[in-house]
Amino acid sequence: MVRFPAISVRRLMSLASIGGKLIAAQEAGRTRIARELHDDVNQELAFLAISLDQMRKGPPRSVSEIRSRTEALFRKTEEISRSLQALSHQLHSSKLEYFGLVNAMQGFCREFSDQHHVEVQFLQEYVPQHVPKEISLCLFRVMQAGLTNALKHSGVNRFEVGLHGTTYGVHLTVRDDGVGFDPDTALRSEGIGIISMRERVRFVNGTLAIDSKANGGTTITVDVPLASVLSHLQSA
Ligand SMILES: Nc1ncnc2c1ncn2[C@@H]1O[C@H](COP(=O)(O)OP(=O)(O)O)[C@@H](O)[C@H]1O
Ligand SMILES: [Mg+2]
Repeated sequence: MVRFPAISVRRLMSLASIGGKLIAAQEAGRTRIARELHDDVNQELAFLAISLDQMRKGPPRSVSEIRSRTEALFRKTEEISRSLQALSHQLHSSKLEYFGLVNAMQGFCREFSDQHHVEVQFLQEYVPQHVPKEISLCLFRVMQAGLTNALKHSGVNRFEVGLHGTTYGVHLTVRDDGVGFDPDTALRSEGIGIISMRERVRFVNGTLAIDSKANGGTTITVDVPLASVLSHLQSA
């Protein structure tokens, strides 16, 4: 088990290099989204435009031809809409504010499992009604990154997300029963998923632990204190 408490040896890692890595990662994220918009969504729209133009120039001659051609256009439009939805989800967190943490996470897990044909079980209990915006965003992003890693690296297709209210705050787990990995080695890897999770959690005074072993699966655990819960306990 490797823990990342508020003060840890890892903090001694060059902050400049972490900052640099994060800025580079943000740029890489933008580049990827720009590329997806250009190569994927734009190509699909161009295809749709061409198909519509063909229909204008050579209208269908029978009802069944109308049906089959509009059916194809309809499918294409749906595909584009799904691509845009996935992209906007990566960019935007307004759903989080609007629906609240629990509903937003549940919705994401459902969409994630539909989109990638995996099973994601979401369990929640005693989550406080009001979780501050920056903490909600932190937990949501950690869940997204954890599930993305599980999908990409674990080798299995069944994951679990748990969100629980505790006596002092909120507790998040993202679990898979896959191949596992060595977190120390992973931190030295090129990836920035784990580094940015850790930075986000530290930003809200939480702790992040990665419990992983070869062929023993991976569990990411995050604990974030909630001031409202703490002050309630103190006044009780
Ligand atoms: N759930 C997981 N199962 C197996 N390996 C994992 C898992 N999560 C992370 N890893 C390992 O940790 C590495 C670092 O992860 P991350 O920082 O997110 O970077 P990236 O996903 O871009 O490689 C991954 O390359 C992978 O080897
Ligand atoms: Mg990753």
